[in-house]
Amino acid sequence: MEVRGATHGYPALVGSGLLQQLGEYTRKYLPRKTCAIISDTNIALLFGERVINSLTGAGFQPTLITIPAGEQSKTLEQAGAICDQMIAAGLDRQSFVIGLGGGMVGDISGFVAAIFHRGIPHVQIPTTLLAMVDSSIGGKTGVNTSAGKNLIGAIHHPSLVIDDVDLLKTLPRREFNQGFAEIIKHAITADAEMFDALEHVDLSKLEPLIRRNIEIKSNIVAKDELDRTGARVLLNFGHTIGHAIERAGDYREFRHGEAVSLGIVAAAGVSMKKAGLPKDQRDAIVDLLNTFELPTQLPANFSREKIFDALKFDKKFEAGKIRFVVASTIGSARLSSDVTMEDIREAVEQL
Ligand SMILES: NC(=O)c1ccc[n+]([C@@H]2O[C@H](COP(=O)([O-])OP(=O)(O)OC[C@H]3O[C@@H](n4cnc5c(N)ncnc54)[C@H](O)[C@@H]3O)[C@@H](O)[C@H]2O)c1
Ligand SMILES: [Zn+2]
Repeated sequence: MEVRGATHGYPALVGSGLLQQLGEYTRKYLPRKTCAIISDTNIALLFGERVINSLTGAGFQPTLITIPAGEQSKTLEQAGAICDQMIAAGLDRQSFVIGLGGGMVGDISGFVAAIFHRGIPHVQIPTTLLAMVDSSIGGKTGVNTSAGKNLIGAIHHPSLVIDDVDLLKTLPRREFNQGFAEIIKHAITADAEMFDALEHVDLSKLEPLIRRNIEIKSNIVAKDELDRTGARVLLNFGHTIGHAIERAGDYREFRHGEAVSLGIVAAAGVSMKKAGLPKDQRDAIVDLLNTFELPTQLPANFSREKIFDALKFDKKFEAGKIRFVVASTIGSARLSSDVTMEDIREAVEQL
């Protein structure tokens, strides 16, 4: 499929058995020779050899660069070290970068592609469901610093995205479920029909679901590529409180999708109060999150105060004004400017 962009689009291939033909596909879209495959230790072990063989077979000269798995690798230092290794391997502005991994690898490899020789092409090969339906689309790349997540980055769209659903077979169940937090977010913000269909989704045939989510995300991104006009903010449904929960748990207690799941429940609470979301729809949201084993209640001993403290770091609290995304009904979200810190407090306390 062609992914829409404000200025230009890019192809996303969604299917099974794609990795075997990676070399051919890449040659079709990127007539270059040298490339860096950036991956993490888990994924390189699983798929590295296949990727290298396919690329070499199609005439490419790949250099595999692996970083330790885990969010703690997504740093400026690590990005610098990757650039150094690329230079040492003789890569130059005619080269390109392949990000083979989940959102962590996608974000840092995209950032490296954005800054190496002021920008070289980036191919995304997402290996998690979350990365397929969310992070590989939209061009946001970046790294974390001690002051917070994703504070340093660039918009750098991929030249090609390859979603091979076979790669999801080795993904641990907990990681697989993360993707559904973002899929449910997409459904609440833009697609009531998909919301209803999710209850009976066929997990052995994920391609249509992935395609639909790419469509939803790219349609929203195309309206507001640089995150300036406000359209893109809809993708933050559940994320204001979700990010605060993630931070309050020191990024260890909850995975991103789990924190977002809790954030969605809280945002649904705020939406009931401020946007007229019917209670039965709020309950349906909670039920659907539970179906995918995502948390919908905070552990009793989890510090609510820490969440309120963390909320102050949110980029959406510009000049003291809260930009909070609410849904008036499933399938339709909008930005609200009359949500107060008190409303948020109330919703978090009910979690
Ligand atoms: N750029 C964006 O728009 C955007 C959007 C959402 C999230 N993100 C970022 O994405 C990151 C989270 O991504 P994630 O949830 O994919 O986590 P991740 O990349 O850390 O991967 C999760 C774990 O699964 C392992 N793994 C990945 N694929 C596997 C496979 N096929 N088989 C077995 N194990 C596999 C990884 O090694 C890792 O241990 C965060 O850094 C977040 O900030 C970015
Ligand atoms: Zn998210």
